[in-house]
Amino acid sequence: MMRRIHHVGIVVERLATAYRFYRDTLGLPLLKEAVIAEQGVRAALLAAGDSEVELLEPLDASSGVGKFLARRGEGLHHLCLDTADIEGALAGLAARGVELIDAAPRPGLAGRIAFLHPRACAGVLVELATPPAAPAVQAPAPLRLTRVVLGARDPGALAARFRALFGLEALPLDPGPRALLAVGRGALLVVPAEEVGGAEGLVALSMAAGDLAGLGQALGRAGIAALRGPGGLTLEPAHTHGVPLQVSRFE
Ligand code: CO
Repeated sequence: MMRRIHHVGIVVERLATAYRFYRDTLGLPLLKEAVIAEQGVRAALLAAGDSEVELLEPLDASSGVGKFLARRGEGLHHLCLDTADIEGALAGLAARGVELIDAAPRPGLAGRIAFLHPRACAGVLVELATPPAAPAVQAPAPLRLTRVVLGARDPGALAARFRALFGLEALPLDPGPRALLAVGRGALLVVPAEEVGGAEGLVALSMAAGDLAGLGQALGRAGIAALRGPGGLTLEPAHTHGVPLQVSRFE
C-alpha cells in the first residue's frame, strides 16, 4: 500500500541556514521551495535517493510548526509515506476508525497530502502523499535516505501498529526488542526508547553515501566534526539542525 518513504519533515529555524548544511555540505539537490500559508510554513524538498528531505521554517510562532520549534527546538517533525491512492488510503483508515487530521487530501509540497493524528500512530506524526502523476525530475543525490529510526517504549507494539495501518512488511532482524519494517527500498527501524536516551517517536536518520571520503572532506571544510567508526560517519544534532544522522557507505 505504501510505495516508499516519501520524505521526513525537519523543522528548522531558517531555511537559508539549513541549506548550508543539507544542500551545500551534504550535497542534497534542492527540488522545490514554497510558502504553504495554511500550514504556516516556508518549506523545501531536497532529493535523497528514493526519498526526500523536507525542511520546514515556521512563518510565525503561532503555527503548529512554530509551536513545535519553540517547544522542542529544531529536529525531526513528521514522516511522509507515498501512496498511489491517497483517497483510498484515507477511506480505508477512516472506515477502521483511525483518527485523521485531514479527512480529505489537500495540496501540499509533496503533491496531494493528508496527516494522520499522532494518537493513531503511537505518537508519530504521519503524512500520506500522492505525488503528481507526471514523474518528478530525478535529481541524482550523493546520499540516499535508507532508514528512519523510531524510539518506542514498546517497539513490538509500534511495529505492529504501523504494519496494520500501512501494510508494511517486517524484515528479519537479530532476535531482540528491535523491529525493522520495509517501505520500498527504505526502512523504519524501531528501537527501545531506552537505547536512544528515552526518546520516543522519530529519533534519527540513516543515509548511505557513494563517496564517504568526499563527504568527510566536505564536512571538514564546513568545520563539522563527525565521529568516524567502522560503520561510517555519525553526526551530532548540533551540526544537523537537530537530527542525529548516521551515514554509511552504499551497500
Ligand atoms: Co511533509
